[in-house]
Amino acid sequence: MITAQIHQQLNATVRETRFSFLSNRYGGKVRDTYRHGDRLVLVTTDRISAFDHILRQTIPFKGQVLNQLAAWFFEQTSDIVSNHVLSVPDPNITIARRCRALPVEFVIRGYLAGHAWRVYQSGGRELCGHRLPDGLRQNSPLPTPILTPATKATEGHDEDISRAGILARGILNSDLFDELERISLALFRRGTEKAAERGLILVDTKYEFGLDEEGGIVLIDEIHTPDSSRYFYADTYERLLAADEPQRQLSKEFVREWLMEHGFQGLEGQSLPDLTDTFRVQVAQRYIELFEQVTGRPFQPDTSTEPMIRMEQRLRQALALD
Ligand SMILES: Nc1ncnc2c1ncn2[C@@H]1O[C@H](COP(=O)(O)OP(=O)(O)OP(=O)(O)O)[C@@H](O)[C@H]1O
Ligand SMILES: [Mg+2]
Repeated sequence: MITAQIHQQLNATVRETRFSFLSNRYGGKVRDTYRHGDRLVLVTTDRISAFDHILRQTIPFKGQVLNQLAAWFFEQTSDIVSNHVLSVPDPNITIARRCRALPVEFVIRGYLAGHAWRVYQSGGRELCGHRLPDGLRQNSPLPTPILTPATKATEGHDEDISRAGILARGILNSDLFDELERISLALFRRGTEKAAERGLILVDTKYEFGLDEEGGIVLIDEIHTPDSSRYFYADTYERLLAADEPQRQLSKEFVREWLMEHGFQGLEGQSLPDLTDTFRVQVAQRYIELFEQVTGRPFQPDTSTEPMIRMEQRLRQALALD
């Protein structure tokens, strides 16, 4: 997409929604979620977070990209597990079935990156009950993709937990856990295939599941978005791995690096730098590039009207509120 179009959007981003015709609003770091009877309205905004902080500046079109990418992957995986999507009435919005969310994040890792690498680097050879071989380096492929679940903490950081820990604490029973592990691995395989078709490596990702009224498993939240996943470019992967250099990533790592260069890594006492407009446009381009690369479709931005008005109109219609 042309840079000028992104520039034009800098002052028309979606920072926050407060739809007065909906109640029960919950503001996450990136999405605004409204409970509406047995449905959930998920609005993906243009907010961006890094190191657990919401940045002051927004990224043009990021919400549209993320929501549509998730919608695309929900479609591409619906034969593996049913998902919560009822409709996507607007590029920023998904209307979903409201389920009983299970309090575990199903993190699947195909490579030794991020948190797993930090554990390994400090000498850890066990991760959530999985034994890791010696001799791996940062971003090495794991012998096989593994599930490294995390508890969804209501406060503070999520914590790694093993299958044994989940069962012992009575969070899930073994049948349900094993079924969700099987599904998560199948989803990861599908994501890996789709990414590979487009020259990308799906490095790791996180799934969330819920149960519907009949106790059926439903994939909820988001799937394979750059906010919930890490991607590398496949063509440079081997060379960079061999040279022990950082991988080219299509994810927030780019933003994290910029912040670190500007003296911020989320530690106490550090102040959040302001993203420049030039950088905001670059980040937007990354997100758009990911969407196009993964889906093989051009990103068609919706710039039809002022976003708040547009979203409100489409929502009222979708929820039959008029
Ligand atoms: N279909 C669904 N049914 C029930 N709960 C859902 C469904 N889809 C998503 N959720 C839940 O809605 C919440 C959405 O919150 P959101 O992801 O925006 O913020 P968060 O998880 O609190 O923080 P973060 O911004 O770091 O992700 C999550 O707790 C998620 O588990
Ligand atoms: Mg979340």
